[in-house]
Amino acid sequence: MTKKELFMANVRGEYTDHTPIWIMRQAGRYLPEYREFKKNYSFEQLCRTPRAAAEVTAQPIEILDLDAAIIFSDILLILEPLGINLRFDPGPIISPHLEKPEQIASYSAFDPADKLQFVGDAIAETRKRLGDDIPILGFCGAPFTVFCYLCGTRGARDFFKTIRFLSNHPAEGKKVLSILTDLSIKYLKMQISAGADAVQIFDTWAGELSADEFSEWSLPYLGKILSALAKENAITSLYIKGLHQFLDIIPSLNLDIVSVDWKVPMSVASHSLSPMTLQGNLNPLTLLGPEELVVNKTRQLLDEMKRYNGYIFNLGHGILPETPVSNVKTLVKTVHEYKRNRDA
Ligand code: CP3
Repeated sequence: MTKKELFMANVRGEYTDHTPIWIMRQAGRYLPEYREFKKNYSFEQLCRTPRAAAEVTAQPIEILDLDAAIIFSDILLILEPLGINLRFDPGPIISPHLEKPEQIASYSAFDPADKLQFVGDAIAETRKRLGDDIPILGFCGAPFTVFCYLCGTRGARDFFKTIRFLSNHPAEGKKVLSILTDLSIKYLKMQISAGADAVQIFDTWAGELSADEFSEWSLPYLGKILSALAKENAITSLYIKGLHQFLDIIPSLNLDIVSVDWKVPMSVASHSLSPMTLQGNLNPLTLLGPEELVVNKTRQLLDEMKRYNGYIFNLGHGILPETPVSNVKTLVKTVHEYKRNRDA
C-alpha cells in the first residue's frame, strides 16, 4: 500500500493494519534543515516562492518519513489581498486591525485563483517533487479564526477584542465572516484543482466560544464551506482547539475527518463522532519529554484507537519549535511499527 492509499483508506473509514501519521506544523523551526533553508528567505517569501515552499513541504516526508504532506503556507495569507498588511516575526503582525465598522468598506473582493495562485503553484510543485503516492493536504483558516486575528487577537489576553467587535457590530462582523467564507470556498477549490488530495480547515480560536456563540459565529460559515466542497466530492478535515463543548454539534457537518485536540480523550471523541474519520491527538508537549514517554504515550493512543475504523495519527496541536527531532523520529517509528489488531 502506498502512503496515499493508506491515508485514503482511513479517510473512507476502512480498517487498516497500519496507521498513517502526519503532524500539524510538521515543516518548521524544530527541523534543522528547515532553519538552514530559511536563512535565505523570510517566512512570506518562502510561502510565495512555489519551489521553495515545495522544498520545505517535502522535508518532513523525506527526512522523517511522515505519511502526508501539508502545504507550506499560512491561514492568514488570505488577509493580504483584502488590503491588510501582514508580516511574520515569527508570529503574525497585522495592520490595521479591524476596530471600527467603517473599515470593512475597504475590504476589496478578490479572486483567490488570481491573488493566491502561488499556493496552487506550490501544491503543483510539491506534487512534482513527491510524486503521486504521497497525499498532499491543502488548508485554510476558519472564517471565525481568521476574523480573530483581523481584530487583533493574538493570544487569550486579547481575545476580548474579537468578541467586543462582534457584540457591538454584529451585522458588520457577520458581513466580514461571509466575505471570508466565500473567499475560503474559492481558495480551497483552487487548492484542490492544483492537486491537493484533502483540505483541512483550522478553527483554532473556536474553543474560546460557548456552544451558542459557536453556533452563531462559526458553525454557519464552516457549514457553508463544507457543503460547497462536498458538492465537489472534496475530502475535508476540521481542526478545532477546544473541541469538547461542540462534540454533539460536529456530526451535523458535512465532513470527512475531525482533527481532535489533546484535551478530549479519543474514546470520547470516537463515541460522539463515529463514523467520521478521526485524527489526533497526542499532546505536543509529550514530545519534550524522554524517549520512553513518547513511546508509551504513543502506544497508549494507538491501543485506544485499535478498533476504530478510520484513524490518522497526529498531534493535538502544532509541534513546538523546541521539540527534539529525535523524539519525532521515535514517534514516527512507533506509529509505523505498530500493527493494529482489533481482537487483541
Ligand atoms: O502545518 C504545517 O506544517 C503547514 C504550515 C502551516 C503554518 N501555519 C506555517 C507557519 C499551517 C497549517 C499554519 C496554520 C496556522 N497559522 C494556524 C492554525 C493552526 C494552529 O497552529 O493553530 C494559525 C493560528 C496560524 C497563524 C500563525 N502563523 C501563528 C499564530 C504563527 C506564529 C506561531 C509560531 O509557530 O511562531 C504563524 C507563523 C507560522 N506559520 C510559522 C510557520 C512554520 C512560523 C514562522 C517561521 O517559521 O518563521
